[in-house]
Amino acid sequence: MNLGYKKFRFEEIKYLDSVKRKLLTKLQKLVGTKTVNFNNYHKFIHNEKKHEKIQWDLAKYFRDKMLHMECLKGIENFLFRNFGQDILVQRKPFLRISRPFKLNDNIGLHKDTIYGQSPYEMSIHIPLTNLGKKSCLMFAGKSYLLKEKKIKFKNQKNLISKGSKQHKLGKPYNNKEIEENIYKEKPVPIKYGEFVFFTPALVHGQVLNKDENNTRFSFDLRVSSKFYPVKFDEKSHNGAYVLYSESPIEKLAKEFLNKQ
Ligand SMILES: [Fe+2]
Repeated sequence: MNLGYKKFRFEEIKYLDSVKRKLLTKLQKLVGTKTVNFNNYHKFIHNEKKHEKIQWDLAKYFRDKMLHMECLKGIENFLFRNFGQDILVQRKPFLRISRPFKLNDNIGLHKDTIYGQSPYEMSIHIPLTNLGKKSCLMFAGKSYLLKEKKIKFKNQKNLISKGSKQHKLGKPYNNKEIEENIYKEKPVPIKYGEFVFFTPALVHGQVLNKDENNTRFSFDLRVSSKFYPVKFDEKSHNGAYVLYSESPIEKLAKEFLNKQ
């Protein structure tokens, strides 16, 4: 992990397969045809309002069904090894849809610690299809070692308003997009069934999906330990966590203390 990110493979793919199946069925219902899939989605929807509605409805379905909790079962041992068994997971993770050559579908290069995420809240990026070097996310190895005050940002207007649908879909309202080609970001192609585990202090993201044939459908979620030094209670909606698992020791201790 000394680059600040690493690719891993699902231990049990059946959980992710099930999540993918449910999302695809929902997407086909929303678009109104069974010929649509994650890769070719951009060929079906050309109206921006319609796209926004589909993304909103699909993201809501994903969150309401807590599909991320289901898919994490497929990497449970990985989570236990890294966090112990007292694990917290973001309540409302982000479902991302990045269509080919749509600048607005991406938030560009960024560092989530600049947006207030603690370095103890790790991120997991999970794609729903294979992503080649033109459609995958970029990661700048070791960029978590940079002094944040010295990071160079792009000059741009802020178009996202706080609390808007776009904000709730994962776009920051006070956009701090990082300049490209300074911090040696590299594309990290990834196959379905793999995930990237990374520190939120890393420069990462996508500026533009340059693969004309493939839309990127992926989701990312924050995972932490109940005992990490994060003020979990003070987080606003996107930072709110739910308990994914609890260790037997924590359970016993709590039961004992409740009786005293
Ligand atoms: Fe991010």
